[in-house]
Amino acid sequence: MDARESRLRERAAQAGQGHLFADFEQLAPAQRQHLLEQIEALDFEQIRRHAELLREAAPVAPADLAPAPMFPLERDAQHERLAERAVEQGARALARGEVGFLVVAGGQASRLGYDGPKGAFPIGPLSEATLFELFARRVKAASLRYGVRMPWYVMTSLANDAATRAFFETHEWFGLPPEDVVFFSQAMAPALDFEGRVLLSGPGELFLAPNGHGGTLSALAQSGALDDALRRGLRRLSYFQVDNPLAIIADPLFLGLHELEGARMSSKVVAKRDAHEKVGVIGRIDGRYGCIEYSDLAPQLREARDESGRLRFRAGNIALHVIELDFIDELVGGGLQLPWHVARKSMNVWEAGRMVQRQGAKFETFVFDALARSPRSVVLEVERAREFSPVKNASGEDSPDTTRADLRRLHARWVAAAGLPPPPTAEDGLPLVEIDPLFADDEHSFRARAGVAPQPHRRGHWYR
Ligand code: UD1
Repeated sequence: MDARESRLRERAAQAGQGHLFADFEQLAPAQRQHLLEQIEALDFEQIRRHAELLREAAPVAPADLAPAPMFPLERDAQHERLAERAVEQGARALARGEVGFLVVAGGQASRLGYDGPKGAFPIGPLSEATLFELFARRVKAASLRYGVRMPWYVMTSLANDAATRAFFETHEWFGLPPEDVVFFSQAMAPALDFEGRVLLSGPGELFLAPNGHGGTLSALAQSGALDDALRRGLRRLSYFQVDNPLAIIADPLFLGLHELEGARMSSKVVAKRDAHEKVGVIGRIDGRYGCIEYSDLAPQLREARDESGRLRFRAGNIALHVIELDFIDELVGGGLQLPWHVARKSMNVWEAGRMVQRQGAKFETFVFDALARSPRSVVLEVERAREFSPVKNASGEDSPDTTRADLRRLHARWVAAAGLPPPPTAEDGLPLVEIDPLFADDEHSFRARAGVAPQPHRRGHWYR
């Protein structure tokens, strides 16, 4: 046994993780090296704290929960005046090249059951364009509209980093300048059993899971992506999730309101469909901005109604944020520690020489917990049909079928608003139409191109 191995054996044993060496003698030399490297990289102090978290009872409900003031969808004259100013302000910031894009795509798409980066999933109703391609075309559309380079930061994780980069390379970065697409990877956190022991996912392989999208902030700093953004003269990032192809990512209204408010991090929300919709709620938690996950909102609060009969906590989080770069810099520089959340689930693990299914826990931090550090923050209510239709599940609610249907409905609306002939209807009773973001990225720009006929397509109307 060499010195490194005995040192690591001792460290693991002291931390109560001696079982990691149980199969060591049966491993091939390369597997042993790999295991030693993984153990060397473990933060045993953090694992100890995570094990403690597991032993604690359910988290205490926040003492004081209140809805957050919103910039509403139904606006009075004063709102309208502010919106006009904000749109101008936001458009100026975009044209000055102060805004970059940030997509979080480090998740494992386990609910979708898709074997590959989620962004490689085909979603275009006619084009079959993937999520990444649709976003790339929106990034390009924004860059052309504002006549400025707009870098796009793509967060991956160890589980999909190589596959994501290869996907972009194969597709020649979807026509974007490769130097303007910056990949960076979030950190991983080991999964534990309920006694706090690190789990294995195979022989000599630790069970590591992405550390949650809260990991974005430190990963941005550690990877050099934050410095890259500052060097380019960016001031803020438009943050979105890879699962929502309706996301309006270059929104002058949102950016302008955020800037006028002097906010450091802001959020877009939609009115919750019903009390049980599985979205977090943006609100005030103990006097600060935050998001309460659907699973953490007590049933009586989930169902509570205000005097007008609407859900009291209806500001559904659609995970679209604007985040100031100097805010990220300050948080990370100050040793940012977002709270850890525990996800207990059934997992396939390697134990006593075979794969077994058992209960375990993954640990994640959430980016919206950083809202608590932004004393001022905009909560902009937007229309669901225009901006939110996430691909979460393989079938049923929030699945590829519902997202494609929502894209078709939205684009059919633009066609109708432009007074163009309606697209053909498919067997499901919905119009079969798709508008390429580079043809037009919103209703307004579509109307401006109303003279252009759709490309013939064997099934529907494809404007591209
Ligand atoms: C999330 C939000 C929820 C919001 C909803 C809107 C959380 C905990 N909750 O729910 O408040 O209403 O989206 O759609 O996020 N990701 C990473 N790295 C990770 C984990 C996730 O990059 O370690 C990315 C995923 O790739 C995905 C996004 O974060 O793009 C959301 O993750 P997901 O686990 O699907 O969140 P939800 O539970 O659906």
